[in-house]
Amino acid sequence: MNHAAIIGWGKGMPPAVLSNADIATFIDTDEEWIVSRTGMKERRITHVSVAEMAEVAGARALACAGIAADQIELVILGCSLPDEICPNMASAVSRRLGTTNAAAMDVNTACTGFSYALSTATALIRSGVMKTALVIGAEMVSRCMDWDNRNVAVLFGDGCAAVVLQATENEEGVLAERLGCYADARDILDVRGVGQRYANTGIPNGYTSWNFDGQEIFKRAVHGMVQASTEAMAKLGKTIADIDLVIPHQANLRIIDAVGKRLGVDPDKVFVNIHRYGNMSAATIAVALVEAIEEGRVKPGALLLLPGFGGGLTWAAQVVRIGQRTTPLGSTGIDFPPCAKTGLELVNDLRARKARYHGAAKVFLEEAAALLSG
Ligand code: UT7
Repeated sequence: MNHAAIIGWGKGMPPAVLSNADIATFIDTDEEWIVSRTGMKERRITHVSVAEMAEVAGARALACAGIAADQIELVILGCSLPDEICPNMASAVSRRLGTTNAAAMDVNTACTGFSYALSTATALIRSGVMKTALVIGAEMVSRCMDWDNRNVAVLFGDGCAAVVLQATENEEGVLAERLGCYADARDILDVRGVGQRYANTGIPNGYTSWNFDGQEIFKRAVHGMVQASTEAMAKLGKTIADIDLVIPHQANLRIIDAVGKRLGVDPDKVFVNIHRYGNMSAATIAVALVEAIEEGRVKPGALLLLPGFGGGLTWAAQVVRIGQRTTPLGSTGIDFPPCAKTGLELVNDLRARKARYHGAAKVFLEEAAALLSG
């Protein structure tokens, strides 16, 4: 039987940092609240597009795998706030990377975008449709963030990472998964202002209103991640004792702790990087997976569990066997262009742009909200 081994990995993290203290300069919040309620200390703000972040991460993953761009048969990109919707983002990334023999597909399942993309690519390889795929999780939340809403502005950051999958007869890669969605609860994680429903309302693109029921999302997230993990492990006849490292979605340190406790996993076996990046939506698990490998936390042959959840409310967990090689075969000199601004300056530019539209957009958003609830 075919499997889809992870043979390359790379990340593309934009350099500009936005600290908790930076955020406290423009909304009523403070370091103590953010760290104690979320575990987040800083996040990244990108000065380049989603496609450019994905190009850096993708090129690094290809170099790590030691394969040429034209060997890739699929570029699949998990992203919920793309640069463009049509044509898709994956084709933009494919053109940049020169993956001339690849199909190109976007996956929008919000924060589980990388998880769903990983399962989709794995299924295509396991069924024999193709042999090699580049799977990317990318997100630029900053351009669409409701920066003056403290309920959400502290939670998110930008980032990107990618892995290369290749067909193998070894029992590697995603061995089992469970994907699901609490569609009945999709309104509790609601971002207004992006998409066709707003196209003729006059709302400027990027002017959004984020409406989250944080506590309800918290409960559903823990439930979904535990359910997905338990069912995915059961499909393989495995228990949490068989898992070497849990690499969860990083939306809140308290969610991660609650999931870990319910699964009965030793905290030392849970990878956490939320303090560095916050929640990067579809990029989160991808970046965490890549960093866990780069930091030596993933040993050759390790069995990983990747639980996630996101808007929709989608949820997922994969059980992944890592191969014997956990070091890169090669590297590339590709990097981001220099960024002349700090994270705070980039965010203040975005806030100033939004303020210019505020009066008009507020009316349109209220009208759109009435339309949607009708
Ligand atoms: O991946 C999908 C997106 N992720 C999520 O939506 C995350 C899920 N939810 C959570 O992580 C948590 O619910 C939050 C971090 C969003 C909130 O934590 P909480 O412990 O559930 O806080 P809370 O909603 O109960 O709010 C407690 C207080 C409130 O004040 P009052 O009403 O008690 O006076 C909030 O207004 O904290 C206030 N608050 C803040 N204070 C300072 C809310 N946001 C902030 C803030 N700074 N940024």
